[in-house]
Amino acid sequence: MKKTLALALAVVMSLGLLAGCGGNNGNSSNPPAASNPPAASNPPAASNPAASIPDAPAGGGTVGVCIYKFDDAFMTTYRNSLQEILESKGYKVTVVDGNNDQAKQNEQINTFITQKVDALIINPVMTSAADQIIDTVKNAGIPTVLINREPTAEQMSAYDKLVYVGCNAAQSGTFQGELILETENQGDINGDGVISYIMIQGDPENIDAQLRTEYSVKALTDAGKEVKQLNLTRGDWDRNRGQEIAANDLAQFGDQIEVIFCNNDDMAIGALQAIQTAGRKVNEDIYLVGVDALDAALTEVKNGNMTGTVLNDAMGQATAAVEEMEKLLGGTTYASGEQSVYVDYVKVTPENVGDFMK
Ligand code: BGC
Repeated sequence: MKKTLALALAVVMSLGLLAGCGGNNGNSSNPPAASNPPAASNPPAASNPAASIPDAPAGGGTVGVCIYKFDDAFMTTYRNSLQEILESKGYKVTVVDGNNDQAKQNEQINTFITQKVDALIINPVMTSAADQIIDTVKNAGIPTVLINREPTAEQMSAYDKLVYVGCNAAQSGTFQGELILETENQGDINGDGVISYIMIQGDPENIDAQLRTEYSVKALTDAGKEVKQLNLTRGDWDRNRGQEIAANDLAQFGDQIEVIFCNNDDMAIGALQAIQTAGRKVNEDIYLVGVDALDAALTEVKNGNMTGTVLNDAMGQATAAVEEMEKLLGGTTYASGEQSVYVDYVKVTPENVGDFMK
């Protein structure tokens, strides 16, 4: 296991996990990030009530894992980590592909309930389906860990055997902005006093996309920078969409683009292809940042083809998700407002990228 990751995990574990208030608005179907409530950029390290219950069963049960779609680079790493951890602990695990179709995922959840699984781990297809999912698992009385798409604290409060494990997306956005501020000209390549950027967004229904979009730019404006958004386009977390969007924007705005913000690495890798095709050079005449620290992105950061990325700790989140599941299986219940458990993001730069490479 990577050294940094091991350290991060040790910290998370020794703190009994940081439990913060999940007060984010996960319901908005509109992208305008500015209307989001300012989620705390550092979730308060409230004590986790679950940490005091040690006698969770040591594996042996059945676990149903629902992933929103298998064809997602980050969620592939995440689900493989989940499966590995659960199986190593002796659980019988079934992982299913929702194919980005909420109706299909609802059926999968119902099938798991009919099969009487001991616990569920669910990566919802749509954040807006949270109420329905929570209602279903509550009626079935199945302990459930939601991952990757955070519902509101209010939605989660409907069921006390439910917990969310993820990261505070605002933090990853802030780190992206800081990566730009740490460059030699602080993102203002042409020296006109304005940082001109395009934003390639994930799925705008997703709180990660909303908060990364907002907080990456907020880090710049908070530092007193003037910014100009040349374009914002949804790329649905997808590499090909990242490539297409960047190619179109480079054709339309050319040298005006100083920074390309991508809500995730897969879209950034796509954007890099477009940048290279357009004859531009990252870190010389354009900056490019993503989130996730996918292996491919780490290589590009190392080679100077990406300005930086942010570790979205799949192994750390999978570990925390299994821990929370075991607490639920051990009888822990969660009070309203204490149902979100966050794993920290980590900024990845050319200087520290080696720490994250396998
Ligand atoms: C990741 C994306 C991923 C998305 C799926 C985000 O946290 O950064 O890469 O596509 O989750 O919901």
